[in-house]
Amino acid sequence: MLRRLNFYSICFAFGLSVLLILAGSRYTDNTNYRPSTESRRNIRNYLKIEDGENNSPQPLPTNPYDGSPNIEKILEKTRTKVKLDLINYNFTTSGVQKLEDLLIESGGNPIRSLIISTWRSGTTFLGEVLNTMPGNFYHYEPLLNFNIVQIRGPPYSDKALSTIKGMFYCNFNNMEEYFEYGKVHLHQFNHNTRLWDHCKYKKELCFDANFTSKFCKLFPFQSMKVVRLRLRLVQELLDDKQLNLKVVLLIRDPRGVMQSRKHRDFCKPAPDCWRPELLCADMISDYVAAGRLLQQYPNRLMVIRYEELALNPNSTAHKLLKFLKLNPTSSFEEFIHSHTTLDVAGVSSTFRVSREVPFRWKNVLSFNNVEEIQLACKDAMDLWGYRMAHNASHLASKEFNPLEPFKVTQ
Ligand SMILES: *[C@@H]1O[C@H](CO)[C@@H](O)[C@H](O)[C@H]1NC(C)=O
Ligand SMILES: *[C@@H]1O[C@H](CO)[C@@H](O)[C@H](O)[C@H]1NC(C)=O
Ligand SMILES: *[C@@H]1O[C@H](CO)[C@@H](O)[C@H](O)[C@H]1NC(C)=O
Ligand SMILES: *[C@@H]1O[C@H](CO)[C@@H](O)[C@H](O)[C@H]1NC(C)=O
Repeated sequence: MLRRLNFYSICFAFGLSVLLILAGSRYTDNTNYRPSTESRRNIRNYLKIEDGENNSPQPLPTNPYDGSPNIEKILEKTRTKVKLDLINYNFTTSGVQKLEDLLIESGGNPIRSLIISTWRSGTTFLGEVLNTMPGNFYHYEPLLNFNIVQIRGPPYSDKALSTIKGMFYCNFNNMEEYFEYGKVHLHQFNHNTRLWDHCKYKKELCFDANFTSKFCKLFPFQSMKVVRLRLRLVQELLDDKQLNLKVVLLIRDPRGVMQSRKHRDFCKPAPDCWRPELLCADMISDYVAAGRLLQQYPNRLMVIRYEELALNPNSTAHKLLKFLKLNPTSSFEEFIHSHTTLDVAGVSSTFRVSREVPFRWKNVLSFNNVEEIQLACKDAMDLWGYRMAHNASHLASKEFNPLEPFKVTQ
């Protein structure tokens, strides 16, 4: 009798633990961003595709949400998930003691980063790198609704800067235009994977300023990328002490940028996108601004050239994390790893794919095209360390290396 009782209690305990493991795995299955084989195939294309306006690859959900859109429940689940995802995270690296110190909801201040660049310069890839951090809220492009323009000052700059600030403070009130635009352009939201996990079941959640504000406040890391705002305007954001913002300026060879833009329908009607002299005037302005801001805030601005990121994704991405005071997590390492070591179709590796991508323009553009861009861009190219091609045979020769070292000086 006693033995039988023991047998039953062992069965019961076993069953219970199986149940607990099953229940637990619902939370932990997707704790880390682990791309499947299928998604690695997509990831492989990131560097190739760079930053599309409408056709970037669909990001994978990081925590598929299954239930009804009960807002309080979503918030509670998310709180738990962020905590679990960062259970082994070393917060000392990020200059605080515990998670709550980085949560707006708990009166803390998140680690905020802003990527400043322009169309077709590799921001999609860099944005995805930062979004591999568990607990990251990816604000993506807050200025999509400004359309294809560069913001260099008034009248657009006030609105643009207040939108960016509002978002970084997780205050989405008075942003009707942003939400109206998003209703018919869902890609405004779907790069923010942790928000999209919920919106994809009920789109209205993404259009709800109250929900978005509350949800945003649960995340310790807040990243954003912007391709429509020039660097000198970022001064105002850096001056905001509470924001404690870190800025990454992503620069790319104008010949590569213009080649890539050729295939974009959104680009041609817009002078800011289509005319190399405007792109390169902005590059000069960014260079001057970078010098000034680095002098004023040496630890809050980092400059990355797209070509170097593509040639050395691992070391560049690690430098970026160090600059942002973020600990590399396994999801981050895995993402970078999948860019540098995976075989592609059994022939070449992603490493080779990414090495060739930044210089594809050399094979695609005619020398006349290249010369036209170089004429408009000579000064910008000198400043940012891009060498000229002197003639057609020089352009085609193996010896021609478009990159040379550069230095931002004040
Ligand atoms: C956390 O990081 C700090 C500073 O980077 C280091 O001194 C400390 O040893 C780390 N703690 C653990 C548990 O790894
Ligand atoms: C958001 O909250 C405010 C104040 O609590 C309320 O007046 C408003 O109706 C809410 N908006 C939505 C879309 O729920
Ligand atoms: C990537 O870079 C980091 C830091 O520079 C280094 O520790 C690590 O070994 C590198 N990983 C690979 C696969 O090269
Ligand atoms: C092309 O440019 C290279 C490098 O400046 C030069 O050595 C070569 O003579 C030029 N060729 C022609 C045909 O002008």
